[in-house]
Parts: sequence; C-alpha cells; structure tokens
Amino acid sequence: MESYTASEVAKNNGKNGQPCWIIIKGSVYDVSKMLKDHPGGEDIILDCGGKDATKAFNEVGHSTDAMQDMKLYKIGVVVSDNVKTTNSSPVINNISTKVEPQQQKSAPAEKEGFKLFCCC
Ligand code: HEM
Repeated sequence: MESYTASEVAKNNGKNGQPCWIIIKGSVYDVSKMLKDHPGGEDIILDCGGKDATKAFNEVGHSTDAMQDMKLYKIGVVVSDNVKTTNSSPVINNISTKVEPQQQKSAPAEKEGFKLFCCC
C-alpha cells in the first residue's frame, strides 16, 4: 500500500487541473473521478481537496453503502514526514567483507633425517 505525507496530499487539491485527494481516517482517497457523481455534490468535496476530510465526512453520517464505495477510491495511507523513507536496502557499515588470506603455513620443520657421514 502506497504511503503519502500530508504535504504530498496537499498538492493534489483538485485545483488547477490537479487530481482531488482527500484524507479520511488516515487513508488517502483519490476522489477525482467520483466528484460529479457524489450525491452530496462536487463542491463540498472540492472544499476538502488535499486536506483531512474526516470530520466533515463523519458529520454527514454517511451510510454503510457510502463506506463501501469509499474503498474503490483508496490509493494509500498518510504517514508523517519523518516516517517516510526510501526503499533502498539498508547499508551495513563497519562490516568488512574482505577475507584475509590465511596465513601461509610454513612448511613443516624438516625433521632431522639421516646424518650422512663421510668416510674419506
Ligand atoms: C470517498 C469519499 C466519499 C464517498 C464515497 C461519499 C459517498 C456518498 C454517498 C453514497 C452519499 C449518499 C448518502 C449516503 O449513502 O450516505 C453521500 C452523501 C453526502 N456526502 Fe459524501 N462521500 C464521500 C466523501 C464526502 C465528503 C468528504 C464530504 C464532506 C466534505 C461528503 C459530504 C456529503 C454530503 C453533504 C452528502 C449529502 C447527505 C444528504 O443529503 O443526506 N462526502 N456521499
């Protein structure tokens, strides 16, 4: 599920050809395509474009059918600026991947072999 900050949602306020996004109970809805069909009218939602419309939505006392319809327009959840992170993989610092070559084992000390005696 996509996550958006409040400032990202605010840019999509339905004005100047922007899509119309609203926040209801922490979820982000793109209502651009349903504005004209909204039984309560287009303007009332446009007034909430880019903003948190939870209070206004609840005050109307929308039916359970309306709650079901909402799901069709959900595009993500709202997160605070400092929660949103990139998808990059974590960087593991201070862990050396360099494998030190094993210390060259010195040739086993030559065992004292036969002693050669010169008979000359
Ligand atoms: C995804 C968001 C929304 C959906 C799917 C939606 C859907 C509906 C539906 C189906 C109705 C008909 C009555 C009902 O079944 O409850 C309705 C009425 C209404 N809605 Fe919404 N609505 C949404 C958001 C909003 C918002 C944000 C506001 C206010 C800012 C709002 C204000 C109203 C009003 C004033 C009515 C008329 C109530 C009446 O005349 O009895 N709606 N809406």
